[in-house]
Amino acid sequence: MSPLNTLFHSVDLGANLTLNNRIIMAPLTRSMADDDLVPTDAMAAYYGRRADAGLIISEATLVSQDGQGYPNTPGLYTQVQIDGWKKVTQRVHQNGGKIFAQIWHTGRVSHSIYHNGELPMAPSAVPIVGHGHVPRTENLEYETPRAMTLSEIKRVQHQFAVAAKNAIEAGFDGVEIHGANSYLIDEFLHWDSNRRVDEYGGTVENMARFLFEIIDQVKAVIPESKIGLRLSPQAYINLEHDERDKQVFDYLLPRLNQYDLAYVHTGMFADVPYEHLEGTVTQYIRKHYRGTVIASGGYSAESGAAAVKNGDADLIAIGRSFIANPDYVEKVKHDKALIEYDNDMLNELY
Ligand SMILES: Cc1cc2nc3c(=O)[nH]c(=O)nc-3n(C[C@H](O)[C@H](O)[C@H](O)COP(=O)(O)O)c2cc1C
Repeated sequence: MSPLNTLFHSVDLGANLTLNNRIIMAPLTRSMADDDLVPTDAMAAYYGRRADAGLIISEATLVSQDGQGYPNTPGLYTQVQIDGWKKVTQRVHQNGGKIFAQIWHTGRVSHSIYHNGELPMAPSAVPIVGHGHVPRTENLEYETPRAMTLSEIKRVQHQFAVAAKNAIEAGFDGVEIHGANSYLIDEFLHWDSNRRVDEYGGTVENMARFLFEIIDQVKAVIPESKIGLRLSPQAYINLEHDERDKQVFDYLLPRLNQYDLAYVHTGMFADVPYEHLEGTVTQYIRKHYRGTVIASGGYSAESGAAAVKNGDADLIAIGRSFIANPDYVEKVKHDKALIEYDNDMLNELY
């Protein structure tokens, strides 16, 4: 029996959702929505071509205009955007697939060009170290964001809930709350970006509060079994490391066991071992979290199958190879050669 067979058994993900296999298409920002941030027909075709993944997780999708940080990333906060997504979800379902929407706010990984000249919002008025170049702009640097007021915190949390409800209206099978990769939720979870002294900062409980209140609000409008969560305890993309960061995740991961979420998903580009985590990020999540775990970060079908077999993860998300190979699942199943990913492939939505 091929060692990959373990990936090709159907698996139940929460109530009433059975995946055809354990291969997940990772969320992949493509910046191809139209200028109203509405998904296009080309996006429907792109996702439809990948419907033989056990589950597609959509590219990060904005909960509000306030959350934008990249050009032409889709939203889920206007009726036209919801209607645009309907075409995508219908195509995926027609082709036998399942799809979750990844819901997102970039926080300080943004620029005033997206907010009519106003500074982007973040937990605290702390810039990204070294500022850095705003992607796809002519030499714009990240600015010092402004600290969110308490009423803005409540507003954004509510926007996550509305976007989740809109996702269901748009035909998605569920949502993934984007708590990873140095965007707004992750900024609350790290000491570098969260210097608040109110109930949203200063202690691990306070730093995790923003996330848990979002989960609570989302689960008030859609079933918990339709809510996934992506976390990256170790993805220092636009964040500085702080020794105390691990304590935040040591606190929050076991607390997630009180919920009945669809899954927790590792956000990493390379899921390699770290001494202070005593293993890979996925192994660290697995140690604390008893529900379904999706691994991601540099996996092949072989290493993914091995991770499932040895109990590190239940499902394996594949990112770049899915951009290069729309027929990834078919190729892996029949042992056909894969095309190697290349950054130039991002220019085209195939
Ligand atoms: C072009 C590109 C876009 C990405 N966009 C997102 C995104 O929208 N949301 C997210 O959580 N991760 C995003 N990621 C990270 C991927 O989901 C994934 O974790 C990463 O590519 C590692 O998996 P891989 O080695 O299989 O590609 C992106 C990665 C790439 C290469």
